[in-house]
Amino acid sequence: SSSAITYGIADLEKLDLPDATFDLAYSSLAFHYIVDLKGLFARIHQALVPGGRLVFSIEHPIFMAPRQPGWLIDEQGRKSWPVDSYQLQGPRVTNWLAEGVIKQHRTVGTLLTLLIQAGFTLTHVDEWGPSEADLKARPALAEELERPMMLLVAAHR
Ligand SMILES: C[S@@+](CC[C@H](N)C(=O)[O-])C[C@H]1O[C@@H](n2cnc3c(N)ncnc32)[C@H](O)[C@@H]1O
Repeated sequence: SSSAITYGIADLEKLDLPDATFDLAYSSLAFHYIVDLKGLFARIHQALVPGGRLVFSIEHPIFMAPRQPGWLIDEQGRKSWPVDSYQLQGPRVTNWLAEGVIKQHRTVGTLLTLLIQAGFTLTHVDEWGPSEADLKARPALAEELERPMMLLVAAHR
């Protein structure tokens, strides 16, 4: 263990952080569960030092939007992802790992504008997809060429 690291467990809906203290905030695949994302972005922004970075992944809105998230396969065996309900922002109930897990769908525009309005400068937005090398190593990743599952964002205060 290192005295340089303090671990804590907290509800991201009501996070309490000291002002202007952190160089980096990092989140992996958790922000799409947050109802008050505007409030969370404001608190993270305030907790970062000037120039401090926020780096996160979030389920891509195209992946999250549909009422029935799952592949449609046509007579030729081609896969497509049904992007219905994209403009209907709000809760999506899924049965992933547990029954009735509630996610919060927002459009790409809403998500990025929330960051901008919180005062962040966006530096990188990546709709992740597999590279040639990724496909060689793991052929099952090929379906990730059909639609983005994850959105990766880097920003700074
Ligand atoms: C898809 S998992 C990602 C886990 C891990 N970060 C990773 O990338 O493998 C989503 C995580 O978000 C957490 N989570 C959801 N809502 C939260 C909240 N309001 N406050 C804190 N954590 C939350 C869940 O407990 C869960 O661990």
